Amino acid sequence: MNEDIVEHLERRLGRLHARQRIGIEDDHEARVLGQGLNYLHPKNWYYRPAIIRKALKLTGLYWRARKNTERIQIRHYDIVLPELPSAFDGFTILQISDLHVDMNEGAMQRLVELLPGLAYDVCVLTGDYRGRTFGPFAATLEGLARVCAQITGPIFGVLGNHDTIRMVPGLEEMGIGMLLNEAETLERGDQRIHLVGIDDAHYYRVDNIEKAVSQLPGDGFSILLSHTPEIYRQAAHADFDLLLSGHTHGGQICLPGAIPITLGAKLPRRMGSGLWKYHDMIGYTSVGVGSCIVPVRINCPPEIALHHLRRGAPNTGDRVQRASAEAWLAPRAKASSALRSAPEGSAARGASAQLATSAATTGPSRSRNSMW
Ligand SMILES: [Fe+2]
Repeated sequence: MNEDIVEHLERRLGRLHARQRIGIEDDHEARVLGQGLNYLHPKNWYYRPAIIRKALKLTGLYWRARKNTERIQIRHYDIVLPELPSAFDGFTILQISDLHVDMNEGAMQRLVELLPGLAYDVCVLTGDYRGRTFGPFAATLEGLARVCAQITGPIFGVLGNHDTIRMVPGLEEMGIGMLLNEAETLERGDQRIHLVGIDDAHYYRVDNIEKAVSQLPGDGFSILLSHTPEIYRQAAHADFDLLLSGHTHGGQICLPGAIPITLGAKLPRRMGSGLWKYHDMIGYTSVGVGSCIVPVRINCPPEIALHHLRRGAPNTGDRVQRASAEAWLAPRAKASSALRSAPEGSAARGASAQLATSAATTGPSRSRNSMW
């Protein structure tokens, strides 16, 4: 690894964070690449894609499932937040998650076509830029640069469990403000909101909310970007108003009704995709725009999400239940058939923009930590 990058990361993140991230990455690569093909390892990438591909081909679903990865949905949400400063009423966040750029050429091309027609104030990228969890990343950065060239306005991002921290200088060169246990403040007039991003909390576990929050100039409305929603308890009790995340891919291969077979995450299944609520915090789990392991999707189309923040009073009632989370949505967003009209001339107007109400029902938490 280039010593300049190590020194840069140590200066920026502190020696402990940089060394932990790099050390765990090196251990992971050594296990995957340095010891030959370990067929007994459940997460071995050399055999799992082949099994999935073979099974889909045997059932005749493979080519349709591949084509599904290019059918990107543009989803609009009105999210009502009581603490939102009035100057930010209508503030729109474009969320793009789990691009897995180098593994999804068709989807990336479609994304590049869709982006110019969208209107938003800021774009957030919630991690997993690389296809695999190891190996080269030059193709990832090249593909991502083509995507970012179509994004207007500020871009902020966090790393996912597929990303190496070695990518950070390249990501920032293309204009992405990477938040690695760091915070930014956005201002409108004399009002402000805080945007906080944490490093991967799923596999690397080098997330540090406390460090990030300590950089904030004070209290106030705050949004947490985390690749994985598994951090929901810590986020809610740190008084974040909104958590934007991805990682689960919504299951990627789902049963009819968008019921995921696996989410690859330790969290209630109701948090596996779409909007949800935990205590006073609204959460959103994107199913992602890309796909990984095998670029296929079944009953779980890829998406990009436009979150329109609205200032308003919350409903009362049980705040833990999903039903309550849905009650916080503006009426337009509550209608399951609602399509939000995009601006005239927008490419989004013709796009399918069905509201995503997670098909996941409350169920047992996952009990394993994966590289999904
Ligand atoms: Fe992912």
